[in-house]
Amino acid sequence: MPSEEPPEGLVAALRAAGCVFAEDEARQLVGAAEDEAALTRMLAERVAGTPLEQVVGYAEFAGLRIAVAPGVFVPRLRSTLLVREAAAGVGAGDVAVDLCCGTGAIGAALLEAVPGVEVYAADLDPAAVDCARRNLPADRVFAGDLYAALPDRLRGRVAALVANAPYVPTDAIATMPPEARDHEHRVALDGGDDGLDVQRGVVAGAPDWLAPGGRVLVETSRRQAPHTARLMAAAGLLPRVVTDDDVDGTAVVGVRQV
Ligand SMILES: C[S@@+](CC[C@H](N)C(=O)[O-])C[C@H]1O[C@@H](n2cnc3c(N)ncnc32)[C@H](O)[C@@H]1O
Repeated sequence: MPSEEPPEGLVAALRAAGCVFAEDEARQLVGAAEDEAALTRMLAERVAGTPLEQVVGYAEFAGLRIAVAPGVFVPRLRSTLLVREAAAGVGAGDVAVDLCCGTGAIGAALLEAVPGVEVYAADLDPAAVDCARRNLPADRVFAGDLYAALPDRLRGRVAALVANAPYVPTDAIATMPPEARDHEHRVALDGGDDGLDVQRGVVAGAPDWLAPGGRVLVETSRRQAPHTARLMAAAGLLPRVVTDDDVDGTAVVGVRQV
């Protein structure tokens, strides 16, 4: 139901529900709804607090339209930092892995930025895996716990291993916006007591999977970055913290020494 000017009633309902960009959201809802009944249902979901991306079924990420399914983590602008850093060091034919891939947005954007790079992805959550198979070559998306999901033939061959693993400390989840807290699966958010539980597994396993000179790139918070860097150093990787204020992104890049 595309339309230039969204119905006023729709905009008013969204505004009343606290949607700051009510007109833009109304346009997206109208564009995504197949008919009036669908629009009514989608408006009700949005007013009840479901993230817009889960309602319309997609998110804009790094210039791509990424399919998003209910419960699956909505890709954030700050994660474009991982894409940019990863893309800077890989070329056609190199192997890249998007671990804890969610929708697979980071892997998809990397594939778009570096044509010919071989992108593989994995996630523990079956809903995320199904979703990522819509955004990436489906036969390269695997289900399972961290590296256990990956085919063994990738061991020692990975040039760039990106991971936006959950890094919110368990106690801090209650302070997150309800859109995240109530509508993204807990496994996508919960990083354990100190927020580093899943990162520990990612970093500890990385040296085995990286090619000589390969890099692991882990999104983190500014506060946690020194801890993430220490995990990398303890795993024998050479860590470097990168930040981008424009997208509010922080990542730690660890290089496997040749
Ligand atoms: C913060 S979300 C990020 C998703 C995606 N990388 C992105 O940036 O949009 C973290 C993801 O890690 C997945 N995850 C959590 N624990 C995992 C594990 N042990 N093994 C694999 N995936 C895991 C969750 O299901 C979730 O999709």
